[in-house]
Amino acid sequence: MENSMLNDLEKVLISEEEITAIAKRLGKEISRDYCGKKLVLVSVLKGSVMFMADLMRYITVPCRIDFMAVSSYGSGVKTSGVVKINKDLDRPVAGEDILIVEDILDSGMTLSYLCELLQQRDPASIRICTFLDKPERRTANIKADYVGTMVPDEFVVGYGLDYDEKYRNLPFVGVLKPEVYNK
Ligand code: IMP
Ligand code: MG
Repeated sequence: MENSMLNDLEKVLISEEEITAIAKRLGKEISRDYCGKKLVLVSVLKGSVMFMADLMRYITVPCRIDFMAVSSYGSGVKTSGVVKINKDLDRPVAGEDILIVEDILDSGMTLSYLCELLQQRDPASIRICTFLDKPERRTANIKADYVGTMVPDEFVVGYGLDYDEKYRNLPFVGVLKPEVYNK
């Protein structure tokens, strides 16, 4: 059957094979760094679901997982500067080693807000693992500790990332044709 979402893409940026290699590499690094720690993976919904699911299967140290939902973008492609908590963590994280799992680090405003908020809960540590990093667009003073890969300043979709809640189910990352979001 044909996939009509493919017509909206300019090109494929990161293939399924590349994604698997990224998840394996980061899983290995994280497993080494968190040996003997109290790791809790905090997935930021909804964009990071696919990455979280892939990454965690390559983490070989004990960990628990939790989810947070925040909104910063509304349905558009530019940041609004407003971060709203739509779903908080299920459990306290005091004394635990938090690893935030994100889909993409763009302006950094969402994550800098989230880090400040989680810091107030007395975790043993907080680090960031992002699948994609768009360093050119950074305005907040924040850096990821683990980066899947850098991407240029283009709007990307797929592998969890959306435009107006669409394209999350593509198994790879593609660049959206500008005419799709300029409509
Ligand atoms: P930041 O606060 O600007 O870093 O925003 C990060 C969030 O913006 C990500 O979690 C995504 O949901 C969204 N975002 C930023 N760039 C893109 C993109 O190219 N495609 C899809 N979503 C994006
Ligand atoms: Mg997101």
